Amino acid sequence: MNAVHGQEAPHRPVLYQETIQYLTAKHAKRFLDCTAGAGGHSEGLLRESSTDSELIALDLDSTAIALSQARLAPFGKRARVIQASYLQATEVLKAEGWDSVDGILMDLGVSSMQLDQAERGFSFRYDAPLDMRFDPKQGQSAADLVNNLSESDLAQILWEYGEEKFSRRIAKAIVEARPLYTTFELAEVARKAVGKTREQQDQATRTFQALRIAVNDELNVISQAVPSLIELLKSKGRIAIISFHSLEDRIIKNVFRQASLDCICPPEKLICDCGHQATVKVLTKRPITASEDELHTNPRSRSAKLRVAEKL
Ligand SMILES: C[S@@+](CC[C@H](N)C(=O)[O-])C[C@H]1O[C@@H](n2cnc3c(N)ncnc32)[C@H](O)[C@@H]1O
Repeated sequence: MNAVHGQEAPHRPVLYQETIQYLTAKHAKRFLDCTAGAGGHSEGLLRESSTDSELIALDLDSTAIALSQARLAPFGKRARVIQASYLQATEVLKAEGWDSVDGILMDLGVSSMQLDQAERGFSFRYDAPLDMRFDPKQGQSAADLVNNLSESDLAQILWEYGEEKFSRRIAKAIVEARPLYTTFELAEVARKAVGKTREQQDQATRTFQALRIAVNDELNVISQAVPSLIELLKSKGRIAIISFHSLEDRIIKNVFRQASLDCICPPEKLICDCGHQATVKVLTKRPITASEDELHTNPRSRSAKLRVAEKL
């Protein structure tokens, strides 16, 4: 299951069984994988559904596209892998002749191969240019943000996206030390600013996480994308979203909740006049998390949360 043409796959999909089960129930035929990565989930969706099922997989990252294309090649025309943001899913699907789907998957965050590709600048384990873009051809790199944002904006990013309690201290140290161009330079500044702690994780972890989220505008992209993805679902179609960060999970929970309500008037309104109508039923009252087994074999699964909703 976890091999690409006989080799160990570079990314082990999390909550694999749970996700595939939810999405392949109810005789689903057309799937959209918004975050192809190494194609592990995509392969599972095609393997576990009927032999005439089809899938379109998207990713921003050209390495992920090449890996997924190789992995899904045995499925021939059943699989199409396209380099695009899931923000553009509606247009991409339309261009491919699809106007709706039975199952949608989003597996958010960064993949193992992105972390392991030193030159992408996602990891402080390797000395490399500070980049962190999912698509290195678009937008501002981490170096651009670190060297140009104000101290207060940097502190805000570290506080909000990294939940970093030393955000102000690190932001001040960054501003004093810049220009910073490499992962090692930034990690060193963050470590010195934080100083010794009792925590096991590296003192630069939260700084790197926060910057990655800011560079790719991840939270805004998710909140914009999910409502339009729900619109793409056929009746009884399902959307499954795996997140790794409490802020992402909160956005997904709220978007699903809102979409499942017949009225979204503020509580003080006695008579409903919002005209809102529920479009989904939430299938996961609480998010699904990794089993003991998976926690042992895949440490990435520790913070993973899966939520699923079904179109009415
Ligand atoms: C955790 S990995 C997905 C792993 C995949 N499920 C597998 O089985 O290998 C997340 C992927 O989402 C991609 N990604 C992040 N933001 C994206 C966006 N806005 N549109 C499309 N892909 C995105 C990343 O490049 C990364 O490859």
